[in-house]
Amino acid sequence: MEAILLVGGRGTRLRPLTISTPKPLLPTAGVPFLAHQLARASAVGITRIVFATSYRAEMFEAAFGNEAYGVELCYVVERRPLGTGGAIRNAAQALNSDPGDPVLILNGDILSGHSIPDQVELHRKADAAVTLHLTEVDDPSRFGCVPTDGTGRVTAFLEKTNHPVTNRINAGSYVFRRDVIDTIPQGEVVSVERETFPGLIAAGKTIMGFVDPGYWLDVGTPAAFVRGSCDLVLGELTSPALPGEPGPFLALEDAHVSPRAVVTGGTIVGAGAVVEAGSTVSGSVIFDEAVVAKGAWIRNSVLGRGAKVASGAMLDGAILGDGAIVGPGNELGDGLRLWPGIELPPTAVRMSSDV
Ligand code: GDD
Ligand code: MG
Repeated sequence: MEAILLVGGRGTRLRPLTISTPKPLLPTAGVPFLAHQLARASAVGITRIVFATSYRAEMFEAAFGNEAYGVELCYVVERRPLGTGGAIRNAAQALNSDPGDPVLILNGDILSGHSIPDQVELHRKADAAVTLHLTEVDDPSRFGCVPTDGTGRVTAFLEKTNHPVTNRINAGSYVFRRDVIDTIPQGEVVSVERETFPGLIAAGKTIMGFVDPGYWLDVGTPAAFVRGSCDLVLGELTSPALPGEPGPFLALEDAHVSPRAVVTGGTIVGAGAVVEAGSTVSGSVIFDEAVVAKGAWIRNSVLGRGAKVASGAMLDGAILGDGAIVGPGNELGDGLRLWPGIELPPTAVRMSSDV
């Protein structure tokens, strides 16, 4: 079976991390995020994947080449972003599948433990045009809200509505019959969520909802990105791409973690990164070459490549761009982001109290 991976978004909610790297390539539990999706797709029998790329398109081929985890990969580039539906139609030109074959479509920012074979099985049994994976979330207004009838058939698709009618949402994994993809207009900007799905429902086509209560996360926000990486390291979601055994933390080769540092909560420590004695790091993502100095305290944060946190500094829910430096005594709270290369000098308050 073939798949299309949607990876053309700009990932603006994850800036500054996505300034240099597209969201699907951000280091997540020690490997590019997509490695987890590719390894999983391979494990369920996907043999060929077409990447639908746009933003920083060239970086995907450079990262994965023509094959990964035994799956053949090819790349289709949109000269201008075509939206999710336009991207699917455009990428379909590279598929080998026959008109009646099922094709898997995956959003490129989803960690999911749902059963893809069971989703495909439902699709075949129902002879559906499309079968959507649905999951339940506390706040459906941020997603595509998808009500179904008693038989599991989708009755409406309400993208990011302030008036959700159910907490079941579109989980970003679709099985399309190949000839249904061919009905999406070619070369135009189309939203699969706002145009294609509502259009198919209005035309009376069979769209099925496959509900699976397994692990599910969209890593599109900083907090969710950190959560996803930690869950993979902790083994909350099993990934064949995890570069080590699950545990309280994982340090890549050439990382140096002092035995007198306290590192917990699924923290990943990247290659060449240093965590010095007396520091505390919990539930965080430390990219390659970053440095946590003696006595620093870090929670639920991201340190970009080569970023530095000095002695006595505190980070809680903060994001440091590549090469950013937090001088001694600074305290960065929830949601605070430092752009790449920015240096925060030592804080005068702390320095005077230190004296
Ligand atoms: N090639 C290409 N071109 N890909 C795109 C484009 C485009 O123009 N626009 C978005 N994508 C890709 C993104 O890279 C991402 O992998 C996927 O499409 C979904 O885009 P997001 O920007 O992450 O959308 P969202 O999270 O707000 O909402 C979508 O996902 C939710 C589940 O996480 C929708 O599908 C919702 O209905 C769904 O609930
Ligand atoms: Mg998303």
